[in-house]
Amino acid sequence: MAPNPAFSLGGCELGVATAATQIEGGRADTIWHRWAATGAAVDGSTPEVAADHWNRIEADADLMASLGIKHYRLGLEWARIEPADGHFDEAALGHYRRELRLLRDRGIKPLVTLHHFNDPGWFSESGGFAVEGSHEAFVRYVDRVVSEFAGLADEWITINEPNVFAYYGYRQGTWPPGRRSTRDMLAALTGMARAHIAAYERIHALQPHAKVGVANHLRVFDPAHVRNPLDRAAAASTEYLFQGAITRALCRGRFLAPLVQPRGVRPGTYYDFLGINYYSRDLASGPNLKTASKVAVNDLGWQIYPRGLADLARRYSALYPGPIYITENGTADASDAFRSRYLYDHLKAVADSGLPIERYYHWTFTDNWEWAEGQTARFGLVELDFATQERRVRPSGRFFADVIAHAGVTS
Ligand code: NOJ
Repeated sequence: MAPNPAFSLGGCELGVATAATQIEGGRADTIWHRWAATGAAVDGSTPEVAADHWNRIEADADLMASLGIKHYRLGLEWARIEPADGHFDEAALGHYRRELRLLRDRGIKPLVTLHHFNDPGWFSESGGFAVEGSHEAFVRYVDRVVSEFAGLADEWITINEPNVFAYYGYRQGTWPPGRRSTRDMLAALTGMARAHIAAYERIHALQPHAKVGVANHLRVFDPAHVRNPLDRAAAASTEYLFQGAITRALCRGRFLAPLVQPRGVRPGTYYDFLGINYYSRDLASGPNLKTASKVAVNDLGWQIYPRGLADLARRYSALYPGPIYITENGTADASDAFRSRYLYDHLKAVADSGLPIERYYHWTFTDNWEWAEGQTARFGLVELDFATQERRVRPSGRFFADVIAHAGVTS
C-alpha cells in the first residue's frame, strides 16, 4: 500500500540516474580501474564487473521502458571515448550513439554526464584538473562528444559533484588520485570550475538550445547544539567551504576565497538549471562532523532527512534562480525495507516545496559499483546479482513506476 496522503508532482518529471564507471563493467584505463586493481575497494571488487551494462544496453533500456521511465541521466566514460591524449575511439563513440538511439526509440530523454568522478589515466598522469590549463583537454573531449551526439541529446551535465571528487581524491586521499593536500584540493576545484565554464560556453556555441549544468552535491550542515556559537560557526563555515564557494564559482564564475579567480574567467551565468544531488545531513560539533543520534539512517549510516532536500533547493535557488533538477537522490537499502518510504518522503518534499523543480532523478536504476564501497552498497530500484547479472525489480522499483504512472501518489 502506498504511504499517505496522496499528492501530485505537478510539473516535476521523474527519471533515474547512473554513472558509466559504476555500471558498464569491462576494462578502461581510468584512475578508478587502476586504483581498484590494487584491491583498494572495501570488498576488493573492481569496476570490471559492475552491472555489465556495456553488453546489456538494450535489455536495460527495455527494463527502464517497462517501468514507464521517461528520463534517464547517464554518464559517458571519457577514457573509453579518448583512451589516449587526443586519440578518439570511433567504436566507443558508436557504442554510445547506439545507446542514445535505443533510449530515443523508447521515448526516454537522456541527460548526459560528461565527467563523473573518473579521469582517463593519461589525463591524471598529466596532473588532472589540479593543473592550470587542464580545461583545454576537457573541452576538446566535450566538443567531440557534443558534435557527435547533438542530434540525440541536448541536456548535459559537465561535471558530477566536483566538491566530493576534490575532497576525497585530493584532500583526504581515500579516492584516486590519492592526494592529501589542501592546496591540491583547491587547485582541483578551481580546475573543475574552469573546465565547467569553458565546456558550458563550448556546448552553447555548438548547440545553442542546449541545457547545461553541474550535478552539485549539497548537504545540510546544522550545528550539533544550536545554542553553541562554536557549533553554529562551524556549520556555517563547513557549508561555505564544502559547497557554497564552489557553487558560486561554477554557476557564476565568481571565485571567492579560498578559491582564486583564474585569469581569463569572467563572472557571468554558467548554468541553465540548478542541479542538486541530495543525500543527507551532518551535524557540526566544534571542528568535527557527526551524524545525529537517534535518527533514521541508511545502510551506510547516512541520516535520512527528507526536508533537507526542499530546504537546500529553496536556499540555493534564491541564489541561483531558474529551473531546478534534482540530479540525484536515493539511499543504500539492501533489504528494500525503507526505500519506498524514502522515495515518498523526498518526493512529497519536492511536491510541497512550491519550487520550480522540473526533474527528479532517482539514484539509481540497478545496484552498481559504489566506488570505495565496491559492491557492498545497494542503491538500486532494481536488485542486481553481481555473479549472474540477473536483474529483479524491487518493490520500491514498482512503487516508483506507480508514482511515474500517476505523476504523484494516489490514495
Ligand atoms: C553521488 C555520486 O554521484 C554517485 O556516484 C554515488 O553512487 C552516489 N552519490 C551514492 O553514494
